[in-house]
Amino acid sequence: MSDNGGETMTDKTVLVTGGTGGIGKATAAGLARLGARVGIVGRNRQRAEAAAADIRREVDKAVVDVFVADMSSQAEVRRLAADVLDRYPRLDVLVNNVGGFWATRHSTADGLEHTFAVNHLAPFLLTNLLLDRLRASAPARVVTVSSGAHAKGRIDFDDLQAERNYQGGRAYSQSKLANVMFTYELARRLEGTGVTATVLHPGVVRTGFGAEDPGRVTGLLVPIARPFMKTPERGAATPVYLASSAEVGGVTGRYFANGKPKRSVERSYDAHAAAHLWSVSSKLVGLPEALPGAAARPDT
Ligand SMILES: NC(=O)c1ccc[n+]([C@@H]2O[C@H](COP(=O)([O-])OP(=O)(O)OC[C@H]3O[C@@H](n4cnc5c(N)ncnc54)[C@H](OP(=O)(O)O)[C@@H]3O)[C@@H](O)[C@H]2O)c1
Repeated sequence: MSDNGGETMTDKTVLVTGGTGGIGKATAAGLARLGARVGIVGRNRQRAEAAAADIRREVDKAVVDVFVADMSSQAEVRRLAADVLDRYPRLDVLVNNVGGFWATRHSTADGLEHTFAVNHLAPFLLTNLLLDRLRASAPARVVTVSSGAHAKGRIDFDDLQAERNYQGGRAYSQSKLANVMFTYELARRLEGTGVTATVLHPGVVRTGFGAEDPGRVTGLLVPIARPFMKTPERGAATPVYLASSAEVGGVTGRYFANGKPKRSVERSYDAHAAAHLWSVSSKLVGLPEALPGAAARPDT
């Protein structure tokens, strides 16, 4: 991975979800440093304004906009999308970074399991709602932050909401596998539009990850491992690269780790399962299925 392939991001507009802390904030700062106008999304206005002020302090002439939405709620994701469409006449890059680990099962305002809702359904819905703007801004990119944990994931279509048996690690891995399969299906549906879709593992990064509802690993082992983890800036290297580099300008439907393309777990390439996941997700967020490419796939 070179710096960013020599590109600047001047005149580009980027939206980073989960941009108020951890990897997302470092990604927003990295892209602002390359000259992009960045929008950061978080749940709390004060925290988001403070993060924007940090980025402005850190990066000379940074243009940072704040968006506030609790992305566990579909109504809030819809309001966020409307706000973005209103404020951004063009959108060059969407970085779907929001995500986390919760050790116990929580229900969202929509009555859905929280990990699946925030980590998968929120980026799924937001991307779909912003797709026309991204297409109109082509060449454009959708970059989704998954995790190496996707490799342990299984999409349990019989119990997607983990009503029978919730385990934090299992729910997390499932949602991160869903990020990978969503990206591959999105790339297929966006073929020929000039909008690319890539997905990545950022590495093991020292952030607020898992702090809201820590389990055994996040609560006990993470503090011990913290000194050996990547800084958020190093964790942001791959999302910044995929969002900005000319080297990956036309690359789509690929998984990256440490700035390099890598094969994701074998079952993530199951196109039939990915189309089914798209269809089920559309129903769960109340989107018509006839979104990009659906017409060519009557079976989905
Ligand atoms: N850290 C790691 O080692 C690691 C490894 C692999 C993958 N990842 C992935 O990297 C991504 C970022 O993780 P991180 O470690 O940087 O986490 P983090 O430090 O906990 O940051 C999470 C971000 O998401 C926002 N957020 C959380 N819930 C939200 C909600 N309901 N609505 C809107 N915003 C919400 C938080 O903002 P507010 O609190 O201000 O709302 C914050 O900006 C995640 O997708 C994670 O799965 C992380």
